[in-house]
Amino acid sequence: MTSYDASFRVWRGDTDGGGLEDFTVEVNEGEVVLDIIHRLQATQAPDLAVRWNCKAGKCGSCSAEINGRPRLMCMTRMSVFTREEVITVTPLRAFPVVRDLVTDVSFNYDKAREVPSFVPPPGVAPGEYRMQQIDVERSQEFRKCIECFLCQDTCHVVRDHEENKPAFAGPRFLMRVAELDMHPLDAAADAGLDRKRTAQEEHGLGYCNITKCCTEVCPEQIKITDNALIPLKERAVDRKYDPLVWLGNKITRRRT
Ligand code: SF4
Ligand code: SF4
Ligand code: FES
Repeated sequence: MTSYDASFRVWRGDTDGGGLEDFTVEVNEGEVVLDIIHRLQATQAPDLAVRWNCKAGKCGSCSAEINGRPRLMCMTRMSVFTREEVITVTPLRAFPVVRDLVTDVSFNYDKAREVPSFVPPPGVAPGEYRMQQIDVERSQEFRKCIECFLCQDTCHVVRDHEENKPAFAGPRFLMRVAELDMHPLDAAADAGLDRKRTAQEEHGLGYCNITKCCTEVCPEQIKITDNALIPLKERAVDRKYDPLVWLGNKITRRRT
């Protein structure tokens, strides 16, 4: 059994500001960063604010930045760092700090509310929906999302640009739009809702320049860019240049 003392630098503060504080904390074999933060609370900083719940990578609440990279604290093993390394833990940068490592992530809940939900197909009772297995599998990947918001935090469109937030839903919610747009039973179009148009005009799909940074930090290894954002962009472009859609728009414009 090997124990050692690690150097931690943790952001402490609140809405009025704050800074990094240095601590030396014991580390035991097999521990993760969240264990060390808990030991810090238990032994040196009882008022340190940190959000967590499952300690199993499933609730999505222990998101923070570790050495500048958005990660889940409970899924980051101490063994990935050298013993000499100073480990810096800071709150998610894209969201306002509440206190210490806790941020206000309500931006994400606001964006979730802006995505119209699944529109059931008319004339088919719940329980009688039938889908091809391939369609089930496609959306299954997106449904692994644990809403940790690491992708939202890392996306450069909002990370350093607060002014983009009103117009950009972020990768997690563009992925939701993509999932619904791919859903073979979603009857949004029949109800007059064009998800491809709203993706562009209301959720800011055009801001995404497919850098794949969101995919790199996703703890569920969801291929957000390749499997959701790029296909949604392709479908939105197809719609724009579809001659029938173009003709329809022209006729509608003439009539109005
Ligand atoms: S791929 Fe798009 S959504 Fe993902 S981080 Fe890059 S710009 Fe943001
Ligand atoms: S898509 Fe991945 S990174 Fe984004 S909120 Fe869901 S689980 Fe987290
Ligand atoms: S505590 Fe639940 S994901 Fe880390």
